[in-house]
Order: sequence, then structure tokens, then C-alpha cells
Amino acid sequence: MAMSVNVSSSSSSGIINSRFGVSLEPKVSQIGWLRLLDRVHVAPVSLNLSGKRSSSVKPLNAEPKTKDSMIPLAATMVAEIAEEVEVVEIEDFEELAKKLENASPLEIMDKALEKYGNDIAIAFSGAEDVALIEYAHLTGRPFRVFSLDTGRLNPETYRFFDAVEKHYGIRIEYMFPDSVEVQGLVRSKGLFSFYEDGHQECCRVRKVRPLRRALKGLKAWITGQRKDQSPGTRSEIPVVQVDPVFEGLDGGVGSLVKWNPVANVEGNDVWNFLRTMDVPVNTLHAAGYISIGCEPCTKAVLPGQHEREGRWWWEDAKAKECGLHKGNVKENSDDAKVNGESKSAVADIFKSENLVTLSRQGIENLMKLENRKEPWIVVLYAPWCPFCQAMEASYDELADKLAGSGIKVAKFRADGDQKEFAKQELQLGSFPTILVFPKNSSRPIKYPSEKRDVESLTSFLNLVR
Ligand code: ADX
Ligand code: SF4
Repeated sequence: MAMSVNVSSSSSSGIINSRFGVSLEPKVSQIGWLRLLDRVHVAPVSLNLSGKRSSSVKPLNAEPKTKDSMIPLAATMVAEIAEEVEVVEIEDFEELAKKLENASPLEIMDKALEKYGNDIAIAFSGAEDVALIEYAHLTGRPFRVFSLDTGRLNPETYRFFDAVEKHYGIRIEYMFPDSVEVQGLVRSKGLFSFYEDGHQECCRVRKVRPLRRALKGLKAWITGQRKDQSPGTRSEIPVVQVDPVFEGLDGGVGSLVKWNPVANVEGNDVWNFLRTMDVPVNTLHAAGYISIGCEPCTKAVLPGQHEREGRWWWEDAKAKECGLHKGNVKENSDDAKVNGESKSAVADIFKSENLVTLSRQGIENLMKLENRKEPWIVVLYAPWCPFCQAMEASYDELADKLAGSGIKVAKFRADGDQKEFAKQELQLGSFPTILVFPKNSSRPIKYPSEKRDVESLTSFLNLVR
């Protein structure tokens, strides 16, 4: 059970309800020892995300009560006693996530901002996650936004940050990497070391550490992650969770809560929302970019390509979490266990009766055949791999759809003892690798895309069979 413990002192506040544009007397409702304020509006303030609050910032809920308060006397007295007491709130976020699973992003955003006030901020990458800012704006509550300026963003993204600040009348709280760390990396390895030895090191310096610093000043953060962004790593993200990786203001495990209000929304619906609300967008989108990160590590994708294919395109799909959301990535080295079980004990996948299970001998025979009677599509997989699990339903569906069509759909388990062979002979890079063995050619053709839905696989088959 994912629980978070928050320790806070409660107090009351004068209120301007920005949603309705009127000044209201403070209305305090009381549940047990917790007092909930209806709406709190604070002027946008510059905040120090380093863990210390800047002295110009008034802690939320800390304004004196007005004399002509409408609070009944008895409630006031109880409230004043409560003010002296340290309140320990224990919340089950798995339960909350279940309750909010079908809630709209606006409802989730409203809940998040209501709960955390000034101790929560939106992480804004400068892409279509501007939807988060629009939702926050629509709640009428005050909200904070931070962005990790890696120093390597596209010029269009910087322009977009500026446009967003002006459109919403906000200041984005930029986080910068440590200059000595960047200097060390670039002087020793050059400006583009990530193309040689992977993006993790540069991302750690330019993104993850600044993020860690930002989060140490917060109790919760809001991200624009969606399930459909990456079937392998994001298919299970809940709308709210105790952050599995980072720590918040109070320190220690469980001190930070992560909200993903658009987890269940599809990319198309985000775009419909942005268009309907006439929200400014990054001009890179018009040039074919979908997912946007740093300039050297992001490229436009072609129509029909999956958005993640435009990110760190020179690397395996499994590496495509830069560390901001590494809690999404399940351990999948060959020796590791999955959820405490040994890998050999993990149940097999791809179970359609129309699928052929190839043995080592079977796939070797298939490779040797010069003139096959029919084309084959074969997935090289490992049952514990989350990317393979994510494509199980569509691959089974493909097998059912093609049954009797003359095209054979097959699987070959290529982990463990078979891995070396699969790497040497079958172009295995990472799991899953999908190969098409065309009818009249001896060489299998590797499926180059991360789009593994039935339509994409079928159209590739039609092109090369
Ligand atoms: S990434 O991990 O691959 O870079 P992605 O670009 O999909 O992440 O964005 C997912 C969410 O992570 C964004 O909606 C945003 O909340 C957060 N995020 C990503 N990059 C940044 C950034 N530079 N600054 C702030 N938040 C970011
Ligand atoms: Fe460095 Fe690329 Fe990561 Fe940006 S995305 S921090 S440039 S490796």
C-alpha cells in the first residue's frame, strides 16, 4: 500500500476566490481535526525551489483571521487548539488513485492543487503538457510551474516558455544544472557524448539532479505523463502515486506525491483540448515534432510513427526514460527477478492458438529456407519484458486475424541461453525484436518501429512480404 505521511500545522487565511473573481470571507469547514479552506488565492510569488522558502513567501494558510470572520465561535476555538498541534495526515494514495481513475484531468488537477496549495508545482517540458497549465488555470486556484532548462533545449521551446508566461501571466520557475558538473562533463567528453555512450550521464547532470533539487522544495508535483506515450514504460502509471524515486520537502521515502492528471487521456484528446481552448503551442509541433525534449536528442517523426521514436532514436526502446520518471522502468537485466519471482518462473506470453511457437531448431530451419512457401512474422521476446507484455494483446490479435491467410505468425523466446544466438544471428537488439521472413528472400527484415499495434504490423507485412 502506498502511503504518504505529511506533517503540517494548520491555520486559517483570508481569501480571495479567484475562480469567481470576488473577495470572500474565510469559510472554514472542519472535519475532525482537519480544517479545509474553501479556496485560497495567493498572488504569484517567486519561490526558491532549493528546499528553503524565500523570505518573501508567506506560507500558505498563514494569514491572520479577519475580525468579522463568519466562523462560528465554537469552530474558532477548536481551530485555535488545532493550530498548536502538529497534524499527522496519513493517506493511502493507491486508494485515492482508484477513486480518481475515471475523474477528468480538471477534477484531478483541482484535487491536487486543493490538497497541496503552494507545496505543489507543475513540471512543464515545453510541449503539449501545456495542457496541465490550462487545466490549472481553469481551476481558478493559484498554481506554480517549473521547467528544467537543460541548456540544450530548442530555440522554439524557449520562445514557447516566454509565450506561456505571457499568456497566463505567470513566471516559470526555471531549474538549471550545476555549472561545475556540466563543465566537467563537457570538458572531458565533449558536447555530444550521449551519441557515443548513451544519454543517461548527460540527463543525470542536466535534468535529473536539477529535478531532485526542485522536488526537495515540494510535497507534490504534477507531470504530463500519459499511458499512451510509451506502452513499455508508461502503460501502468496511476493518476496519483507516492513518488517511487524522489524525495520531497519533508525528506525520506513517501515524502513526495506525484500527480499525473492526464495519465488516462490519449494524445489526440489532449490536442483537441488545446485547440478548443486556443492554448499557445510550441511551434515545433507544426514541424512534425510530437514528444519534445532537448534539441540534440529529439527529432520530428513521420506520420504514423510513434512519438517516442523521435526521442533518443539511436538507443534501445527500453532506455528511453531519461531518469525523470525512472520509477516507470522495471528492472529487466537477465539475472534480475521480476516482482520477487525468478524470470524463468514468469508466465509465458503470446498465447493465441494461431501462433506458432518456434524452437531453436525451428527458427534455424526457417532461416535456412531460401524459398519459403509463405511469409513469416516472428517476435523475439522475453516474457518478463514489459515492452513484450505491452504488445501481447495486439500480437495475439494479429495471429488471429491472419489465421488461414497464408502468413504465419510466430514467437521465439530469445532470452537466457538463446540470447547470444539471437543477437548474433537474428539482429536482436532489445526485446521485443520483430522480424519478417519474406516469401522469396532468405534474409529476415527487422521491423524498425516501436508502433506495435495490429494496423502498423499489418501494413509493414504488406510492404515486405
Ligand atoms: S522524458 O522523461 O521523456 O523527458 P517527457 O518528455 O515524456 O519526459 O515528459 C513527461 C513529463 O515529464 C512532462 O509532461 C513533464 O511533466 C515532465 N518533464 C519532462 N521534461 C521536462 C522539463 N524539461 N522540465 C520540466 N518537466 C519536464
Ligand atoms: Fe543531455 Fe540529451 Fe538528456 Fe538533454 S536529453 S540532458 S541533451 S542527453
